[in-house]
Amino acid sequence: MLKISHQYIYLVVFSLFFSFVPEKLSGQKSELSPDFHRKRRIQLREKLPNNTVAVFFSSPIRNRANDVDYEYHPDPNFFYLTGWNEPHAVLLVYSTPQKDEEGTYFEKLYVRERDARNEMWNGRRLGVAGARKRNFDRVALKDTFLNDQHNFDRFDTVFMFDFENDVRDDKSDSSDLFDLQQHFKKTINFPDNFDADRYNLYQRIRRAEVVEIPYIKRTIEYLADRDSTLMEDPVIQDFMNNAENENFLSDLKSRSAYLLRDYNFDINQLEEMMASLREVKTEEELILLKKAVQISVQGQREVMKAINPNMTEREVQGIHQLVYKKYGAAHEGYPSIVGAGDNACVLHYITNDKTDIENQLILMDLGAEYNGYTADVTRTIPVSGKFTPEQRALYEIVYKSQTAGIEAAKKGVSFSTITKACFKVVQEGLLELGIIENPDEFRRYLPHGVAHHIGLDVHDPRYTPYLKPNMVITVEPGIYIPEGSPCDPKWWNIGIRIEDDILITEGAPVNLSADAPRSWDKIESLMSEKSPLDDFTLPALNVD
Ligand code: GLY
Ligand code: MN
Ligand code: MN
Repeated sequence: MLKISHQYIYLVVFSLFFSFVPEKLSGQKSELSPDFHRKRRIQLREKLPNNTVAVFFSSPIRNRANDVDYEYHPDPNFFYLTGWNEPHAVLLVYSTPQKDEEGTYFEKLYVRERDARNEMWNGRRLGVAGARKRNFDRVALKDTFLNDQHNFDRFDTVFMFDFENDVRDDKSDSSDLFDLQQHFKKTINFPDNFDADRYNLYQRIRRAEVVEIPYIKRTIEYLADRDSTLMEDPVIQDFMNNAENENFLSDLKSRSAYLLRDYNFDINQLEEMMASLREVKTEEELILLKKAVQISVQGQREVMKAINPNMTEREVQGIHQLVYKKYGAAHEGYPSIVGAGDNACVLHYITNDKTDIENQLILMDLGAEYNGYTADVTRTIPVSGKFTPEQRALYEIVYKSQTAGIEAAKKGVSFSTITKACFKVVQEGLLELGIIENPDEFRRYLPHGVAHHIGLDVHDPRYTPYLKPNMVITVEPGIYIPEGSPCDPKWWNIGIRIEDDILITEGAPVNLSADAPRSWDKIESLMSEKSPLDDFTLPALNVD
């Protein structure tokens, strides 16, 4: 996801402006300890039913163009369980002890080999010795994965993720990720033409409780939209027509189980197990996540001071990135959205190439990634330093909506309670300003959700709908009024989102990103301060 093309601003600015950040964040360089990852593996093991195994592959190297790859980014689940940051690796976690000549073990990590020539060109590798220091029961070279007698069919279930089929085969390496996955597919009898949707539906029907019937039907309708042959499947058809009949349902379960008889793998439940682990953060994770948030906050603050009407969207993003690197964050946790005026109304805008931002609101949705953990903080500010009356009127609605959402974010409360709290304020505010006439129309101007977990992913997985202490979630309402919307044109091309990262506690929610001014008056006040970047100019380029 890293936008390499946006790095040049950082490089230039960083080398010249070495010391404008007032002080380093406190604390030594922190990363998760081997013990953290080991405990996570033990917790996963405790979730696995007897006589099962969970199989994880590292993420692939992704190609950018020709002989240039994107910077490697580990798969978050793999990283969570291992701390391993290198490609071409496999992790096996067993529910029950396995035996070899050295004794019993519950887990095995396969890693790529050391290779002096390759390391000279492409960077260091930790190898088996490096992995052993990280407290795995067993570590082996990746090519032994191809020869080990895994006998996956002796397990009741092999838990895994579906394959994304986005792995290239490096022909110069006979045990690269591609080969490891091919071998694994063969050993578990994974069909060449595997139909994940159909498989998932059989699985769900096989385990269906009566209360789940309406949800499964809705899933079927949703999936049938993109694959109409699903509705012609006899089991699925019968489920749609007769699932409410108890005897029929029991028969459908048997028929689904029969259709799945050749498979002892499961591609659904591991995701849920991992989500249930990852959604509540440990103290060790919270240190990293709080740093990622604080760094992002400093990025927003520096931009508030430095921005001027001659800047471009790209320069604004460059200032954020400079601040990240200054504090030791490797990169953005996701491509920043930096959109002025009409661009702020494009929800996933990442081109960030507008050069004329004068007199507009600029929406900046960004998160530094610090040792794997990413923040997700949005501020929307007037480039001129002062909100116009229209901008301010809409800003106040979003601000009050977000305040209501944050106040609702308490232990035991559901995500939908936060959503309702945010929506209500936006709905009433838009009615009051005459932007909508009918309460239901507000979704035209606020089409997205307003809360999600953050962590190793910017959208970290959610398992339970209810909030628990040590979850960290965003609260992020917005209003977006693109040109041509059915309201007074004075509102057009205003897009506003305010997004903060909220720690759920036993008591009141804690806003981890509160130091980035959120209210219009505090924003205007910080924007009037001087920035060290005010005096930073570069010579004109000497080209025609
Ligand atoms: N930055 C993506 C989001 O706010 O969810
Ligand atoms: Mn978000
Ligand atoms: Mn965001």
